Amino acid sequence: MILVKTIEHLRLETERLAQGKSVGFVPTMGALHRGHLSLVEQAVAENAIAVVSVFVNPTQFNDSKDLERYPRTLENDLKLLKPTGCAIVFAPNAKEVYPEPDTRKFNFGKLEAVMEGEHRPGHFNGVAQVVSRLFDMVEPNKAYFGLKDFQQLAIVKSMVKQLQLPVEIVPCAIIREKSGLAMSSRNELLTEEQRENASIISETLFKAKELMGQKTVQELKEWVVGEINRNPFLNVEYFDVVDDEQLQTVKSWNEENTKVACVAAFCGKIRLIDNIVFN
Ligand code: PAJ
Repeated sequence: MILVKTIEHLRLETERLAQGKSVGFVPTMGALHRGHLSLVEQAVAENAIAVVSVFVNPTQFNDSKDLERYPRTLENDLKLLKPTGCAIVFAPNAKEVYPEPDTRKFNFGKLEAVMEGEHRPGHFNGVAQVVSRLFDMVEPNKAYFGLKDFQQLAIVKSMVKQLQLPVEIVPCAIIREKSGLAMSSRNELLTEEQRENASIISETLFKAKELMGQKTVQELKEWVVGEINRNPFLNVEYFDVVDDEQLQTVKSWNEENTKVACVAAFCGKIRLIDNIVFN
């Protein structure tokens, strides 16, 4: 496994190791956990080589405190990546990725008007900026994204379509702690007590799936928010049930689309997201 920090070095090593065969790419912001590693393992299995990027992208943070706080653990990330068989770790600095400020404005229409897009203005524009740049640098055949960030996946797919990029986007299942809590780099910022309580979020989503037939969409929404907020450590920012393509609010269980229940909640100052497919 090779660590590269510049685009020039990345291109050289990718060419040398892949020899024209398929490159699988996993973009990350580091502080890696088993969720990330499952993406990397899939990329290794399905391609001649796998490239993982570790870059905490400043343009996608709408909250400067969140950016400051974000865990940076490159040494440990390298240790975790080594046994996966990943060939190249690309860990550029901000000047390498953004020699000049990126002023591009993407338009994702309805997709960015809801949920994370609504509550984190500019976030998905920053994600699209960095992912499109990373795609230009790595030139992957396949890129792997977790369903944990369900809306991000929809945004990336839309970006690839708009820019007509020759890359296949591969969605990967959510990896959870034993408690059910969706793995996240931000979980590292929780105290042990907060972490235990944070599992109420996923527990409630699992229960909601079972209750689906017994309540209307509106009743279920109220129930979920009440259940989570009942815990003194947690505060729901939004909960919504949306269709899996346009991400628009589902009004009735009779609609034929695939439905995904998505939640964002604060545990102390730390914002956590999770989702579950309802059918
Ligand atoms: P990051 O939060 O580091 O996540 C990197 C990838 O790992 C994303 O595709 C995310 O969905 C996936 N992932 C995170 N936790 C997961 C879990 N518990 N199960 C499965 N997959 C999981 O998402 C980003 O970084 C950034 O926005 C990025 C795409 C790298 C652009 O900066």
